[in-house]
Amino acid sequence: MSIAGRMAGKRICICTGSGGVGKTTTAAAVAMGLAARGQRVAVVTIDPARRLASSLGLEQLGNEPRLVEPGHFAGQGLELRGELWAMMLDAKRTFDELIELLAPDASAREDILANRIYQELSSAVAGSQEFTAVAKLYELDASGQFDAIVLDTPPSRNALDFLDAPQRLTGFLEGRALKVLTAPTGAAAAITARGGSLVFSGLRRVTGVDLLSDLSAFFRVLSGVVDGFTERASAVARLLGDPATTFLVVTSPEPTPVEEAIFFRRRLAEADMPFGGLVVNRVRVLARSAPTIDESALAANLGGDGDLAARSVQALEDLRALARRDAASVRHLKTELDDQHPILVPQLGRDVSDVAGLVAVQRFLFATWRERSALLAEQAF
Ligand SMILES: Nc1ncnc2c1ncn2[C@@H]1O[C@H](COP(=O)(O)OP(=O)(O)O)[C@@H](O)[C@H]1O
Ligand SMILES: [Mg+2]
Repeated sequence: MSIAGRMAGKRICICTGSGGVGKTTTAAAVAMGLAARGQRVAVVTIDPARRLASSLGLEQLGNEPRLVEPGHFAGQGLELRGELWAMMLDAKRTFDELIELLAPDASAREDILANRIYQELSSAVAGSQEFTAVAKLYELDASGQFDAIVLDTPPSRNALDFLDAPQRLTGFLEGRALKVLTAPTGAAAAITARGGSLVFSGLRRVTGVDLLSDLSAFFRVLSGVVDGFTERASAVARLLGDPATTFLVVTSPEPTPVEEAIFFRRRLAEADMPFGGLVVNRVRVLARSAPTIDESALAANLGGDGDLAARSVQALEDLRALARRDAASVRHLKTELDDQHPILVPQLGRDVSDVAGLVAVQRFLFATWRERSALLAEQAF
């Protein structure tokens, strides 16, 4: 089944997998294909290399989706009947915006954003990117502006962090440590009561930093947003498990990403998250009936350069050996992930760093099974 079939009735598509397998590329190509078919689509990427922005002709992607000019696709053989919106996640800003939203009033909002301890903590939380990515997803979905939202996931070594992020954050906020600290009679209050403490006043005298007031202000304002935050985190977790959400597991045929894909598939099942299918990207495709090459005829064609002919034949043999290994990986994946019809995207001759490359990947993702066999055969050797 093509991506179009797998996305039927879905509003949210999350591309997961190991680093470097083509998640960002796949996310952009899925969004592009859905937009071509008439949907209003937003793609949220997490691409520190900013390749996506440049390939979509956007100098900069802000923390809100921007419309990709349809003219950008002129001459690429792809007509956008819908709309393609793209943004690059700014984790820290997303986190700040969420706090602003949850703060009970304007002064609480300003207090918390200006608070030195909040600034440190929010950078640390936002630094993990996983929670902010799904928080953004929730916000875009709730806006009702888009028929479909495609989410790229962070280049983290552990794709599972992303799945657990809402729960981990809620766990922290509901945890005893924070309760003790934020309770009216808790540690913060105790510290405040001992405001004259030699350590703090000494510190303030020497450094000019009023750590104590920062600390107590932090606990005071944070306690005002904890409930809203917990509520939001569970809504985000619910959205991940929603029937209108689907996870695509993206992998390359290399051994390490393959193992990670298998592991991730299992975790999706355990967490009751909807698995939408497997995309095996960068596959080297073996021709069904590869012609044997007559080495001496080739040498004659190469002006009698027998050495070059031998090396060319060897190079082709090496490639075919890799293609056989890729085919074995795909068979292994089919069984382990229980997806008999994964979507294969070949290793293209060049980097996918422009619209033409994305359109090419999109074609493989959205082809029917029959069309895809023909397209793959063109790439086989
Ligand atoms: N099918 C493909 N053929 C050739 N190059 C590809 C293909 N898919 C992805 N790439 C290249 O591989 C690199 C990693 O892709 P990317 O989408 O950034 O992976 P990820 O987001 O999983 O880290 C990029 O340089 C991209 O252009
Ligand atoms: Mg990426």
